Amino acid sequence: MPDSTHRQPGQLIGVGVGPGDPAMLTLAALDAIRNADLVISPCSAPDIEGRAESIVRKVMPQIRYQRLIFEMATGESGIQARKRTAQNAAKELLAPLSRGQNIVFITLGDPNVFSTFALVANQIRALDPKIAITTVPGIMAFQQVASESQVELLNETEKLFLITANETLDDLSDALDHPEAAIVIYKGGRHIGDIKEQLAKADRLSGAMVGELLGLDGERVIELDQIEESSIAYLATVIVPPVRNIPFTGYSKIKKESLQ
Ligand SMILES: C[S@@+](CC[C@H](N)C(=O)[O-])C[C@H]1O[C@@H](n2cnc3c(N)ncnc32)[C@H](O)[C@@H]1O
Repeated sequence: MPDSTHRQPGQLIGVGVGPGDPAMLTLAALDAIRNADLVISPCSAPDIEGRAESIVRKVMPQIRYQRLIFEMATGESGIQARKRTAQNAAKELLAPLSRGQNIVFITLGDPNVFSTFALVANQIRALDPKIAITTVPGIMAFQQVASESQVELLNETEKLFLITANETLDDLSDALDHPEAAIVIYKGGRHIGDIKEQLAKADRLSGAMVGELLGLDGERVIELDQIEESSIAYLATVIVPPVRNIPFTGYSKIKKESLQ
């Protein structure tokens, strides 16, 4: 019988799969997924394919996933619920990790920015600090919005506020006190009308772009002042360039198809 007492624990790897378009998956991400003993797919219900899973499936249809349900609610009760689900997930992953399995946890965008992965990683660390935890970076939604809308987001010594607007627009108010800084707004889809109004009041609406459902059905990347709805999808990202003396004049307009 194999001796399991001296077996090395496996590794937990958070892998960013980009915002939605499988073309944004990195070679490092594909490599980590291909070599994993177990691939964890966060989802909202066992019979609903998670976003990250649907991106990977388009490139590697043969991969098998273990789905783990994560609470997506917002507010204080949502934070508690997410923590509880992360605790349960960590308990479930501890046994295969202790048996030496390498586990990949796929996540939208980057695993180190606003990702459920960090919650799970913290819980695993608390249960067994010997388990190695690493990450593979992923392309983030705001990078794709900047690229598709031909906006140079930062240059020279400009600063960036990367904020969320899920609950309140307080962080946006603070960021608007710094016209020299670019602003990226995550999780603001529900309040897009208010965000537009606040940017207009601060004279920052011109040049602001929004990317909704990037890489997914219903994708659009447009000027924020063209949005008429007061609320759009949760997967929406706003970018606001800094106020500049010499405005950026844009890159060449090359259609995506002509690059293929
Ligand atoms: C929980 S955070 C995940 C962030 C992710 N870890 C990252 O690095 O981009 C969810 C927010 O990310 C942004 N986002 C992620 N994927 C997106 C997509 N496909 N289209 C537009 N925004 C997206 C939206 O602002 C959304 O509200």
